Amino acid sequence: MIILGIETSCDDTGVSVFHSEKGILSNVVSSQVKLHAQWGGVYPDLAAREHTKNIIPVLDNALKEAGIDLLDIDGIAVTVAPGLIVSLVIGISAAKALKWSLKKPLIPVHHIEAHIFAIFLSEEVEFPFVALVVSGGHTELYIIKGFEDYLYLGGTLDDAAGEAYDKVARMLGLGYPGGPIIDKLAKEGKEVIKFPRPLLGEKGKNRFNFSFSGLKSAVMREIEKKIYRKEDIARSFQEAVVDVLVGKTVDAVEEFGIKNVVVAGGVSANSRLREKFLKEGKRKNFSVHFPPLYLCTDNAAMIAYTGYRRLKEKGTTIGYDFEGKARLRLDRFVQYINQK
Ligand code: KG4
Ligand code: ZN
Repeated sequence: MIILGIETSCDDTGVSVFHSEKGILSNVVSSQVKLHAQWGGVYPDLAAREHTKNIIPVLDNALKEAGIDLLDIDGIAVTVAPGLIVSLVIGISAAKALKWSLKKPLIPVHHIEAHIFAIFLSEEVEFPFVALVVSGGHTELYIIKGFEDYLYLGGTLDDAAGEAYDKVARMLGLGYPGGPIIDKLAKEGKEVIKFPRPLLGEKGKNRFNFSFSGLKSAVMREIEKKIYRKEDIARSFQEAVVDVLVGKTVDAVEEFGIKNVVVAGGVSANSRLREKFLKEGKRKNFSVHFPPLYLCTDNAAMIAYTGYRRLKEKGTTIGYDFEGKARLRLDRFVQYINQK
């Protein structure tokens, strides 16, 4: 079976061809990162305009690289939620047009779900597992009991972890996206400031929720004092973020007695996060799985694969009567597509 995946939820235009026996045949991503660098973040109208320009050339390249004809595909998978609405609708419109012209099934995919299931493109992980999804737009913790069997534990109350990285990098005058730059710079610094670990150790309703905006303001105050080197501020900030992400995931592992953890999304590329997770896993006897780097950041291979799984395991397809959803939690998405 051959599934075409389309991803336009944020600033990357992605199209991929997944073959059920041969794996990923192509995974083309047109990144707008340079374009958005001047804003220090994604500028939605610009993102939408670029998707409109890029979607057909990216589709063409993905088919060429895969060495297949459009008529060879058995289904089209597309990101329906969450994301920038002006970006989502471009991919959805392209997918609907393909469904209409090819008369092939259309399969809805949730962006966070795809980030999580990307792991299966590189290795098998046993259910249940705890999934931490950390990217520019999301910081969420789930228990994944099986395909479409998701328990939401918590998420960020304000900024996403990647967003905090991007904002701190901008405050330090380091460029965009900030995550990889801070990751690198922090290696040369020391934890000279003990920043707060927001909501870590919380027992009530915020036990599995996150909050990074207060931390960002604390970093700003230190930058304004002009006492510490950028390297040391980067290191101190990163230690706080990583402690919270690892700490909350370990709390979930312990509370639910789970043995496997999957860490996904752009921030899962972070070297310190990986190091601390592996160390804690050894200490507390759970195994940690990270998708390879090219599958951590936004891509359409994860969409094509998740769509393939949805079609194979659940037989779920969708007609034309649906729209993109800027915010829709993964557990509620499953209900949404089953009503359509
Ligand atoms: O998943 P992704 O490509 O796009 C979204 O869906 O947001 O994630 C992008 C985010 C950006 O905020 C970027 O700064 C962050 O991931 N990121 C990192 C690293 N590499 C990318 N954050 C921390 N350390 C990294 N090495
Ligand atoms: Zn993403």
